[in-house]
Amino acid sequence: MNDEPKAPGRPAYPPGYDPVTHTYTPPIGPDGKPIYPEGYDPVTHRYTPPGRPVPAAAGEAVDPAKCPVDHSQHPYHTAEPSYAADGSRRTMLVTGASRGIGHSIVRKFADQGWRIITISRHAFERTRCPWEAGPEDHVQCDLADREQVPLAIVDIKNRIGGGPLHALVNNAGISPKGPAGERLNSITTPMYTWMQVFHVNMLAPILLARGLFDELKRGHGSIVNITSVVGHRVHPFAGTAYATSKAALTSLTREMAADFAPHGIRVNAIAPGEIITDILSPGTEEKFLPLIPMRRLGRPEEVAELVHFLCSEASSYITGEEININGGQLL
Ligand SMILES: NC(=O)c1ccc[n+]([C@@H]2O[C@H](COP(=O)([O-])OP(=O)(O)OC[C@H]3O[C@@H](n4cnc5c(N)ncnc54)[C@H](OP(=O)(O)O)[C@@H]3O)[C@@H](O)[C@H]2O)c1
Repeated sequence: MNDEPKAPGRPAYPPGYDPVTHTYTPPIGPDGKPIYPEGYDPVTHRYTPPGRPVPAAAGEAVDPAKCPVDHSQHPYHTAEPSYAADGSRRTMLVTGASRGIGHSIVRKFADQGWRIITISRHAFERTRCPWEAGPEDHVQCDLADREQVPLAIVDIKNRIGGGPLHALVNNAGISPKGPAGERLNSITTPMYTWMQVFHVNMLAPILLARGLFDELKRGHGSIVNITSVVGHRVHPFAGTAYATSKAALTSLTREMAADFAPHGIRVNAIAPGEIITDILSPGTEEKFLPLIPMRRLGRPEEVAELVHFLCSEASSYITGEEININGGQLL
């Protein structure tokens, strides 16, 4: 295909644009000045294809507005520490906790007294709805980078210090679009994009679970993989690499559940439908409300409740399941 990478690892996007990180290093014009495409913000270095909602700038108080807690009175989400039956502090690792569903998950677990270790590419954002010890227990890592992931695992093992890990929530996910925001299908997806998407969405979960196997075993841990409704049917906005990576994660959940169960570790998946976060494409509401029997999109905190259930004693005999949370979208 003529849209395949011209050199190893590089797709045929506009020169300088990275569709995974949505950053843009502009070409220089004849006048020596950078040529920015429409939708590129040279201050935040974020590229928003025309027609997509502009993402919040770093530091902008987005989540406090949605959060029921008044952070001027209560700076952190926190609670009395919660302990497991063996007396150890309940501890979890969540990937992609900086916004969206992951952020609701940390709010829920912080309010339940868990120690929370997080991974995402950016530094911990202190001005956005923080939780106690959030800055100290944040690991910066690009889960698309096969060399960074093992180093992050060493870092996390050191933080846990030989103790137990009670939950691993593989939540981080990417769903790249084409340069103009268009869906990338099985014909148009560049090879580079397939590799990035599969590394973040499918490989990172098993690398983390294997790397932290001893800690999870010690904690009789629960692993929750966040899959998607699009792993089961073609979607008008989510691309093919994303959909197939999520389908693979669904299968991986089943395989992991069988392999990890004899070691006392449960593995389940949650498949959200359309949940209100930055990952949604413009037009999702118009397109999907008529198709969702409950006639509304889901909220990140509704997914967080389900994650908490799967990491609690209440689900102690459930493993290998994928639970849909989609307002009846597949009925
Ligand atoms: N929202 C929905 O409707 C929906 C539906 C079905 C499934 N899901 C799944 O639910 C999960 C969360 O989705 P969301 O809507 O909350 O997404 P989101 O708002 O886009 O947040 C994604 C999170 O993942 C992190 N992340 C992205 N790429 C990363 C990388 N390479 N390495 C490390 N961290 C990375 C981001 O932090 P940084 O930018 O700091 O790295 C961010 O915290 C995803 O797996 C998604 O596929 C969502």
